[in-house]
Amino acid sequence: AHQWRGVIAEYADRLPATITEHVVTLREGGTPLIPAEHLSELVGGQVHVKYEGLNPTGSFKDRGMTAAISDAARKGARAVICASTGNTSASAAAYATKAGMTCGVLVPEGKIAMGKLSQAIAHGATLIQVDGNFDDCLTLARKLAEAYPVELVNSVNPARIEGQKTAAFEVVDALGDAPDIHCLPVGNAGNITAYWRGYTEYADPDAPGAGGVAPATRLPRMFGFQAAGAAPIVLGHPVDQPETIATAIRIGNPASWQQAEAARDESGGLIDMVTDEEILTAHRLLSAREGIFVEPASAASVAGLLKAHAAGLVPAGSTIVCTVTGHGLKDPQWALRGADGSDVEPVRVSVDVVSAADALGLE
Ligand code: F0G
Repeated sequence: AHQWRGVIAEYADRLPATITEHVVTLREGGTPLIPAEHLSELVGGQVHVKYEGLNPTGSFKDRGMTAAISDAARKGARAVICASTGNTSASAAAYATKAGMTCGVLVPEGKIAMGKLSQAIAHGATLIQVDGNFDDCLTLARKLAEAYPVELVNSVNPARIEGQKTAAFEVVDALGDAPDIHCLPVGNAGNITAYWRGYTEYADPDAPGAGGVAPATRLPRMFGFQAAGAAPIVLGHPVDQPETIATAIRIGNPASWQQAEAARDESGGLIDMVTDEEILTAHRLLSAREGIFVEPASAASVAGLLKAHAAGLVPAGSTIVCTVTGHGLKDPQWALRGADGSDVEPVRVSVDVVSAADALGLE
């Protein structure tokens, strides 16, 4: 019987030997690309949602983490460290455990979703809460990795980008070619960098492992979206106090800033911002109309698509992929808030069929 072997085994010929030599995997990747009928109708094209919440720890980070931890294992590393708004720490903790390594995570004070925090703790990471934001945590993690015997597994580690580029490979494998437009949220900007590399390599017969074959004949336009309160790339300067309910992308000075701009410019794409309200509207649309539950940051890709469509930037008939990066169960509180901002309360009934039927509107 066949099962998906994880992104390193599935795409080994397109990854460096430093990663494929000693593979640590939880069989990440192979996530569904789901046709989104309601969204397709709204924008007049074919929209597909790449549901990265279905990775082993519930986010796209697992693609990069299998690569970073495999590389660390090859080097004989015993300990890894990362800064995180939550998902990276959950993923690092799980893969470090799988590899028999210890894991330290630096998280910003007070703004980590409960689901993510519990994962890091459950997998035995040492959790350090820093009096600062994500950008401060990353600065600290870099300094620790320079001065002490510990591997940094943030997306500034090149192995992370190599692993994450496999998501673009999967999209092309599923669609038969690259889409016209690819939308995704942007935080530290590693993922937009990775997707662009993946698409570029898959369209290049001379890319590593291509063997003269290019699975894609074209490249998508990359549409990246930051949260309005944390939109340094859109504003053109770092944001000292980033704020957004999408805590995963609450980042004021992205490490891969230049690479994100390159992906935008080389692809003829754009990087724009979406408000928290737009994010929550897209979050509700995904769960209530498409059956796809995501965390708020993930909904930025769909919020951005709707904004770009309203601005006339999405040609009719386009094929569009929106990456939704993390599972809704990571940060479930937002589902319990109605469109008007009120708490959603359950209807209460006694143990009685007629009252239950009545409450359900059954006749
Ligand atoms: N979506 C989710 C759910 C994320 O967790 C992140 C980043 C992003 C989008 C943005 O991706 O940083 O590659 O541009 N989370 C990091 C973390 C920062 O620590 O988990 P990016």
